[in-house]
Amino acid sequence: MDVLKEVENALSSAESPETALRSVCTLLREGVEHYDWVGFYMVEGDELVLGPYSGAPTEHVRIGFGEGICGQAAETGNVFVVQDVSKESNYLSCSPDVRSEIVLPIYDDGEIIGELDIDSHRISPFGDEDRKMLEKVCSMVAKTVRRCGNGKKHI
Ligand code: SME
Repeated sequence: MDVLKEVENALSSAESPETALRSVCTLLREGVEHYDWVGFYMVEGDELVLGPYSGAPTEHVRIGFGEGICGQAAETGNVFVVQDVSKESNYLSCSPDVRSEIVLPIYDDGEIIGELDIDSHRISPFGDEDRKMLEKVCSMVAKTVRRCGNGKKHI
């Protein structure tokens, strides 16, 4: 089964938002070789708050809009694909192993409710296929969050 199908199944059968989002993180991280950290940040006021994730713990549990790649994605509403984090000035490092990152805003009814954040230990690993697949994941996540809440209370 492909990763997208597995994500779809996990989201439709999950018993709580927390388990749903956590399953998505695990499936993506285990299913795609160049995904080394996969997590969700949920919008709370003008901050992003870390939700379920898979990978090494991060000190960036709260990120203000505009701060780092995540904060810039939240502020602008755009997908950020950073193929080499060493070239970024507004970047929050979680670990020296991380070389690249993709951040996708999650929209519900035109409003950003959170983000999907993925780090890779490789340089330039993210292609169009990643972006398209992850955009679909975000739209499925938005529907799940609308149905049963966002899971941010159970980090
Ligand atoms: N690198 C992010 C911070 C979050 S971690 O990748 C988990 C950023 O610059 O916003």
